Amino acid sequence: MARSFLTGAELSSDELHALLDRAIALKADPLGSRALAGKTVALLFEKPSTRTRLSFEAGVVELGGHPLILRPGEMQISRGESVKDTARILSRHVQAVGVRTGPDALLEELAAEGTIPVVNMLTAGHHPCQALADLMTLKERFGSLEGLKLAYVGDGNNVARSLAIVGALAGVQVAVAAPEGYQLEPVAGAQLTADPYEAVSGAHAVYADVWVSMGDEDTADARRAALTPYRIDDALLDAAAPGAIALHCLPAHPGEEITAEVLYGERGEPIWDQAENRRHAQKALLELLLAG
Ligand code: CP
Ligand code: NVA
Repeated sequence: MARSFLTGAELSSDELHALLDRAIALKADPLGSRALAGKTVALLFEKPSTRTRLSFEAGVVELGGHPLILRPGEMQISRGESVKDTARILSRHVQAVGVRTGPDALLEELAAEGTIPVVNMLTAGHHPCQALADLMTLKERFGSLEGLKLAYVGDGNNVARSLAIVGALAGVQVAVAAPEGYQLEPVAGAQLTADPYEAVSGAHAVYADVWVSMGDEDTADARRAALTPYRIDDALLDAAAPGAIALHCLPAHPGEEITAEVLYGERGEPIWDQAENRRHAQKALLELLLAG
């Protein structure tokens, strides 16, 4: 079985730190690696995407490879071909596959049945590539991850879970504030609370994601009602460590989970770096998974 990246927990702490350093080096020299020369990476999108598609497609090209965008609706999988057979066929033609879909089980099956690395480009459970870019952004801003605290406020969703898992691996203290009914299950090392002000106390970065994730549209009204106190505004940032930055995986809904003042202000500037850093971090990941 090839090496896959489904939750982030597949990496050792040393590998993660080396990957973040490599991502920062690749950002300074975007065409400095030809690690994917002659290689094709399939990118399977079952859900919409702006950043993930842009960053993977451009990143594979920068590494000298060919990105192949696939939509399940245009494949035989939409007519009942099994995941098992799809995994076998992908493995005969391409050197890696990225997948954005709902069920984590689909990625696990692809990884188990195929012989190529499978990369999670977002599932209902996890968004580990986002967490790589987020940690890279923290490292860029603060010079080192040592002693940093990151507070996530909002829905205890895929983004929160990946920050908790990958953040712990990187040695960053992660706090997640979510209301009852939207809380993250316990993750080793993560501080869980319902109080956003408790979470941001001492935090160097305060992180928001959408209140209504893809697939959660039918409960949108209840989510907006429950999550309103979990908005990033200037008052919440003022309660964090001095000089604290705002982070957001985007897409944003200004006025919901983050105010326009923060998103487009000085404290929100790193958010736009985060979006760019997706490309650099994922290039470092593809180099690692396809090494040798
Ligand atoms: N942050 C993120 O994954 O964005 P997209 O949904 O646009 O890919
Ligand atoms: N939690 C969001 C992240 C979007 C990048 C979702 O799953 O839709």
